[in-house]
Amino acid sequence: MSQDNIQSTLHEDRRFPPSTDFINGSALSSSKVNELNLKSKGDNQEFWAQQARTEIDWHTPFETTLDSSNAPFYRWFPDGQLNASYNCLDRQLEKNADKTAIIFEGDAGDVQHITYRELHAQVCTFANALKAQGIAQGDRVIIYMPMISEAVIAMQACARIGAIHSVVFGGFSASSLKDRIEDTQAKMVITADGGHRGGKVIELKSTTDSALNAGCDSVKSVIVFKRTGHDISMQADRDIWWADAEKGQTSECEPTWVDATHPLFLLYTSGSTGKPKGIQHSTGGYLLNAITTMRWVFDIQNSDVFWCTADVGWITGHTYVAYGPLATGATIVIFEGVPTYPDAGRFWDMCERHSVSIFYTAPTAIRALIKQGDDYPNSHDLSKLRLLGTVGEPINPEAWMWYHTVIGKERCPIVDTWWQTETGAHMLAPVPSVTVTKPGSCTLALPGIDAAIVNQEGEEITTANEGGYLVIRKPWPSMIQTVWGDDQRYKDTYWPYFDGKFYLAGDSARRDEDGYFWIMGRIDDVLNVSGHRLGTMEIESALVANSLVAEAAVVGKPHDVKGESVFAYVVLKGERPEGGVDNELTQTLRAWVGEQIGAIAKPDEIRYADNLPKTRSGKIMRRLLRTIAKGEEITSDTSTLENESILPQLQGKA
Ligand code: PRX
Repeated sequence: MSQDNIQSTLHEDRRFPPSTDFINGSALSSSKVNELNLKSKGDNQEFWAQQARTEIDWHTPFETTLDSSNAPFYRWFPDGQLNASYNCLDRQLEKNADKTAIIFEGDAGDVQHITYRELHAQVCTFANALKAQGIAQGDRVIIYMPMISEAVIAMQACARIGAIHSVVFGGFSASSLKDRIEDTQAKMVITADGGHRGGKVIELKSTTDSALNAGCDSVKSVIVFKRTGHDISMQADRDIWWADAEKGQTSECEPTWVDATHPLFLLYTSGSTGKPKGIQHSTGGYLLNAITTMRWVFDIQNSDVFWCTADVGWITGHTYVAYGPLATGATIVIFEGVPTYPDAGRFWDMCERHSVSIFYTAPTAIRALIKQGDDYPNSHDLSKLRLLGTVGEPINPEAWMWYHTVIGKERCPIVDTWWQTETGAHMLAPVPSVTVTKPGSCTLALPGIDAAIVNQEGEEITTANEGGYLVIRKPWPSMIQTVWGDDQRYKDTYWPYFDGKFYLAGDSARRDEDGYFWIMGRIDDVLNVSGHRLGTMEIESALVANSLVAEAAVVGKPHDVKGESVFAYVVLKGERPEGGVDNELTQTLRAWVGEQIGAIAKPDEIRYADNLPKTRSGKIMRRLLRTIAKGEEITSDTSTLENESILPQLQGKA
């Protein structure tokens, strides 16, 4: 690991304290938050034990809070038993049965309300259907669905019977789907004929067929939800319509009680090396932090309408769509479409029509909507909004200010939440009734979370604004349990330094004079495109898998909407195109990467060279490639470069 480039350039002096109105309407007072902080700093484990006893309905209460005997494989509440679906649904039936759990809006504007009683019945019926198809506790089930209520129903149904779900984002290709099916050895795929996005039909069943035809012998059955009604093929001995699978099933399903450490789900995410990793999450610890952060960061209350715009294919859609809000009895909005269809006012129109009070989205969406002008938000009544949130990447202060003034009307606090697929829930974020916010900072660690910035030796950096590695020094309940099927990779990736004492997040960060955290970027070769993680290696492997390509190097280039865009340097097996330009080939390779991984990984630009810049020891000089991608002057020493003559080609000048 190298610390040379961890330098901060951002200075931001604006401060935004919560308004008196917000404080008065909040469920959390500053004295309560002080108490939480004090308790967690005193006896951290006892603090989490108390939270777990209060927030979760246990079938068998735990006696041991944390088993660290096989660290870093920490086991929270190991002798407790519970069911996640029971905690989300059954316990709402007493007081909230007729409360709306889900407001679903389709791409075309079709709206459906589902109460907790109805959701409970639908989850139970589908859970029984899964059992009838031979799914039992511990089996893996892949969910490859559009962003519709049934995706959440499928996740909850798996949780109900102790099956381990792995949701694959609907934008991923057949090849990515196949990799995940094979890595999980899933017995079943739950999909739909297709979904609607921006007026178009997204094929899901035919993509599933392509994945399954390429291998995936573990899959015994495929359940298909009819969403679009367009023509698809069904394989008689394998595929069954959702409605047929549910025929004859009752709406009662006794939850399967599982150990707190039983895996609730696997979710694949990119790292700097190799294929995406299956991040394994527990049931008890995960659910606990999904709940505590709903209270501390979102200040969730019975009257709120909560809309997290993330797809269930990402961790945000797990913790803040499928589990956290339901476990706290909230009303959630689920939206199938895109923010710009039928026009760029869609989000604001939906906030108005559904009386959304808490809105949580990604900076990339905010930046895209800023470009569409203020008339869209200004022509809608956004007065029900009381809290705004962001996630997935650093938000640039100007986008933050727009969100604050144009959407929040200077009334709504903004919670900038730093966390990861691996952390399961928010780690660094404001408590909106208490924390003074600063545009661009995710502020402070939440109660119970021991975050720090350290140098290469693992010593805490206490000098204000000096950059270093972001680490977590104490285990926390919703932490990653392991990488599915690869304990060694878990240890190597997250606990490689400092004698395995600290969890290494992979981000660089600094703390300002008030101790506020500012995320500066990744320390590894992971890109953040529109808030989604992509490994450079993964895209390079996809490119070299094409028969025309000999070598490839991928870097991120700053992009004003996506945050970063994918920039590829390619060495062909054949001749380099004349002048380094071949638009047709570029389109072919872009489409190829789309097929290998998914549309989000397509390079925005491809530059062809006779060779890649390498040091004499053969290492690709990525920093140089990043400088070139940005179009910046090369100031670093290129004399160690084996083949200096290719620089003009890389710069697109020859
Ligand atoms: O680099 C950080 C960035 O996203 C990474 C985690 O990506 P993923 O596992 O896909 O989860 C995204 C949604 C939780 C982090 O290592 N990141 C996430 N949130 C923020 C952020 N960077 C800055 N500010 C944030 N609020």
